[in-house]
Amino acid sequence: MTTAHASEVNTSGPNEFGYNNYALGNFSFRRDEYFAHVTWPTGSHTISIDDFLRALQRDCAWDFFYGTVNFDHVVGTINHYGNVDLFAGRFNAAFRKAEIDYLQNFETPVIRNTFHTMLDNWTNSTFDPFASPAETQAPWGNKSGSNTEAVTRRRVAAQRMVGVQGDEQIRSDATGHPINRMFEDVPQSEPEVHAEPGFESEIAAFNLFAYLSRSNVTWNPSVVSVCKESLYCPTTEEYILPIVHGNDRVEWFIQLSDEITWDVADRETGSPRAKVVMKAGDCAAMPADIRHQGFSSKRSMLLVWENNSADLPDLIASGKAPQYPVTF
Ligand code: PHB
Ligand code: FE
Repeated sequence: MTTAHASEVNTSGPNEFGYNNYALGNFSFRRDEYFAHVTWPTGSHTISIDDFLRALQRDCAWDFFYGTVNFDHVVGTINHYGNVDLFAGRFNAAFRKAEIDYLQNFETPVIRNTFHTMLDNWTNSTFDPFASPAETQAPWGNKSGSNTEAVTRRRVAAQRMVGVQGDEQIRSDATGHPINRMFEDVPQSEPEVHAEPGFESEIAAFNLFAYLSRSNVTWNPSVVSVCKESLYCPTTEEYILPIVHGNDRVEWFIQLSDEITWDVADRETGSPRAKVVMKAGDCAAMPADIRHQGFSSKRSMLLVWENNSADLPDLIASGKAPQYPVTF
């Protein structure tokens, strides 16, 4: 395993389709009208450009997220919080058996710079990788313009709870957005707060459903409350989670509205393990040894609850913390 240090972006182009090519260690990336082509010393892989850009957008916006971000059954990243593995076939039983899987480690700024630059260069003006497929135009064709504003959107992250003093900007952000076409029936009334004198800055309440009804992105959890390491990350979901997440810790889902179906598979091999259908009010925990991908036919609201503790991956890997939240 080698670790690259230089954080300049290794790029060439434009190619015949107008896009730049990128090299990252021994990986190379090329885009044409329909596909992203990824090449490494022992193989190559092609991903539809809409899927690739949606996955790349999440990996960039979440700064490599918790654990593994599988773009699909072949390519993805593993976050080691300071450095990141880029892999091909690492979590694919057939690639492993044939010994053609490949993995290279990068200091986070190196892979971050390349991924952000590639996302910006490969996204045309009419495509928004964060939007549901019904709310954006197509990504196909030769390079035509860019959509930097969309691809550099910042994830909304509260320091305490939305509405508490210091986090008002998030409220005004939210109220600047129109109600999504699928959430027109969501009541917009706000709770009344009657604080005892002196506690006005300590107590707050807000209508989470109203807040989420105005989200213009899909599969992009925002952080609405922070209590020590406990992060409440609600999100609005439509179509397919663009990555297959292999978490390095247990995470909890509370289905706030409508319905999501989760395909759950073994984290190492990808062999299917369960199908979880979550209806409004359902709660589920995803264990730390699986990968999961959600499907939402109608835009729905989901609360993702993460334990942000930096100690968890080692505690779980060393067996000191369980991979399962409950033992029945
Ligand atoms: C997840 O991987 O757990 C996840 C990611 C993004 C979402 C929802 C769930 O919007
Ligand atoms: Fe997850």
